[in-house]
Amino acid sequence: MESSAFEKRVKRRVRGREHDFFIVCSPGLEKVCRSEILAAGFPKDSLNLVEGGLEFRGRLSDAAALNLNLRSPSRILMRVGRFKADSFEKLEKKIRAMDFDLFLPENSELKFSVTAHKSRLYHSDAIAGRCEALILDQLASGTGFMAEKPSTQTVYIRADQDEFHISLDSTGNLLFKRGIKVKVTPAPLRENLAFALLFWAGFSASDILLDPMAGAGTFSLEAAMIKAGIPPGLFRSFAFESWPGFSSRAFARLKNQAQENRVLIPEKEIFASDIDASALAVMQQNISAHDFCQTIDLCQRDFFSLTPPATASGKKGVIVLNPPYGKRLGEKTNPRALYGEIEKKLLSDFKGWRLGIILPSKDAHPLLRLQWRPIFHGGLDILAGTGII
Ligand SMILES: C[S@@+](CC[C@H](N)C(=O)[O-])C[C@H]1O[C@@H](n2cnc3c(N)ncnc32)[C@H](O)[C@@H]1O
Repeated sequence: MESSAFEKRVKRRVRGREHDFFIVCSPGLEKVCRSEILAAGFPKDSLNLVEGGLEFRGRLSDAAALNLNLRSPSRILMRVGRFKADSFEKLEKKIRAMDFDLFLPENSELKFSVTAHKSRLYHSDAIAGRCEALILDQLASGTGFMAEKPSTQTVYIRADQDEFHISLDSTGNLLFKRGIKVKVTPAPLRENLAFALLFWAGFSASDILLDPMAGAGTFSLEAAMIKAGIPPGLFRSFAFESWPGFSSRAFARLKNQAQENRVLIPEKEIFASDIDASALAVMQQNISAHDFCQTIDLCQRDFFSLTPPATASGKKGVIVLNPPYGKRLGEKTNPRALYGEIEKKLLSDFKGWRLGIILPSKDAHPLLRLQWRPIFHGGLDILAGTGII
């Protein structure tokens, strides 16, 4: 009796209606994300582009589909409360009225991410502590929902001029973690940045890709998934999968459909290489783990001795480069000289190819008159350059 009343409340308040979500993006990737969402068929008026991400209005099932299918964002937050509070008493009253048991499972470990700006309540640990006690109380009320496995759930609290915004993280591990890499090399690129570079360079599923400084193979694996039509989230789990409002049957159907629609590529159209044998060994493990050996051609080679691959179609494609920088270049190597050599090589052997390259901002020079966009990677100030060679 009690559980069916609870189920009805979840249906009415969570599953059966639209919510506001915030799709968090790395600075500079917001428009890439908007293009992805529009390409997935969501209407323009469900979206609002703001600094740091996109506001999206839709159902929990839409957010599940976006988590599964989007390549560029970092995470998706579900907004569950907004109110004014300039004292702990008011904050606690509002939190008590919020019914967290409809959104989170009873067997949750809670984490908090709190920011406060120009607000009377500014001590983030104190805000988190007060809210945690009350939310745990609600979850332990005994009328709620137990997920199959205990999970960690993150509550985001943002206070701005005493206005509180409470959100729940639907994603869990950041979305760039696709769950397909078995191993990484030093300085791997995040998958969402690798995707953005492919996107800006105009890579599409029918293109040939050359990845001649492949490292752990981030570009190649991303391109292989795009070619095969595999959603980036197919091999990982999400925080929302433990929520009472989550429909596991509908989500399993979505994933099964994606598995069934996997496109088999008849010819190797992705050419990955690296000068370093240990990077090759890492990449070999990564591509074998998900059966990408049919799609990705892998070999050990110096970029400077490389020529465009001979394919049946002979067409030109996209070349992506994330050359070593900083400490990894060694003290004696002059970065500008290396990047100048790369430019010479591209101009002599890859005329007409589309290029995507990542360089540290301070060393970027008017290489090939590319379009440069600032991106942020592990605290480094870097530029993504794209254009035709
Ligand atoms: C910054 S890492 C690339 C990381 C890669 N994007 C990833 O996500 O794993 C640079 C790579 O360039 C490779 N490299 C450096 N000089 C090279 C050369 N002359 N030819 C081919 N690869 C080279 C290094 O071995 C290293 O794996």
